[in-house]
Amino acid sequence: MSRYLVTGAAGFIGSHLVEALLDCGDDVLAVDRFSSYYQRSLKERNIAVARDFDNYELVEVDLATCDLDPLLDVDGIFHLAGMPGVRTSWGVGFEYYVRDNILASQRLFDAAARANVSRIVYASSSSVYGENPGYRVAEGAPTLPVSPYGVTKLTVEHLAAAYAVAWPLELIGLRYFTVYGPRQRPDMAFARLIDATVSGGEFLVYGDGEQTRDVTYVGDAVDATIKAMKLARPYINVIYNIGGGSTLSVNDAIELVWEIVGRKCELIFMPPARGDVRHTSADSGLAQTFLGWHPIRWHPTVDVRPGLAAQVAAVLSKVP
Ligand code: NAD
Ligand code: UGA
Repeated sequence: MSRYLVTGAAGFIGSHLVEALLDCGDDVLAVDRFSSYYQRSLKERNIAVARDFDNYELVEVDLATCDLDPLLDVDGIFHLAGMPGVRTSWGVGFEYYVRDNILASQRLFDAAARANVSRIVYASSSSVYGENPGYRVAEGAPTLPVSPYGVTKLTVEHLAAAYAVAWPLELIGLRYFTVYGPRQRPDMAFARLIDATVSGGEFLVYGDGEQTRDVTYVGDAVDATIKAMKLARPYINVIYNIGGGSTLSVNDAIELVWEIVGRKCELIFMPPARGDVRHTSADSGLAQTFLGWHPIRWHPTVDVRPGLAAQVAAVLSKVP
């Protein structure tokens, strides 16, 4: 069994990752600063299950400022902490993206390299690609982000490349494509749509709703993340697309959620959101070949319905 540092451990993806590691018997040192991007109460709920494990320790610190050395006596680091929203990354808020994405990652990479940590698996994003060129993008496709958020995530990839060349530190970046499922962040489309449908509220559709996303069930994203850490092969600096493979539009999602919940909500059409790409579509062949990752949990190439139904069920039952 191993001991891992997980950053962003109280967040959406991080909290699922922590539980999966604890279930495997690994020790987890969880770090989160409980940023105010969304309510602390939701993050407290995210970590409720993990708190019951003896092999779990939570440290509330800010990676951009804290002393990192005491956190680095570990076999590997999962770095999921970050400032995640695409649409809120314009204007004065950009400062927080620089801080929580670029500065926090650089400090962590630097401290880990000096402490001889062997491997870091870190969260990148489909947003590094920018507009989809009309086919499934592989990792070698041009990176032309169209949001400040995407620029910060691409910068983290470049930092990782620099550290991987200069230090004996393996860095593996995972470009997650729109992750969904229980505990999805409250700013994301499915979470808002389910909330509006269940509570009889309004859902704001940005643009005409015909924009599409290649979506990834959170259990599949976690599976890929753990495989990247545990696979016994030498890495220097690699990046994998982690895309579930099922593509649906916002309008498709609306129909599906209404059908699952059994009622409708009011739709308000708004102008397209600045920084949003029209379509995303991943070629995840590298992850399939080299990580042995197959997003089979919900047979996503066939249907996103079971994963969305699980997200709806979690909201209705208020389970952590
Ligand atoms: P999230 O906001 O739920 O989780 C991120 C966590 O990081 C938060 O709990 C926050 O408090 C913590 N954090 C932020 N800055 C920190 C700092 N300086 N020190 C310590 N903790 C800090 O987001 P998420 O959706 O779980 O995303 C996790 C990661 O995956 C992020 O890096 C995000 O950019 C990336 N990502 C997410 C998606 C998605 O669809 N959710 C897709 C692509 C990439
Ligand atoms: C998601 C995550 O939020 C980012 O953190 C992540 O980096 C990114 O995926 C990624 O794949 O890298 P996004 O695809 O914009 O970003 O996911 P949503 O926030 O769920 O939005 C999906 C679509 O729904 C967008 O076109 C958006 O405009 C639309 N939307 C969103 C609405 O129409 N209404 C809303 O209230 C929210």
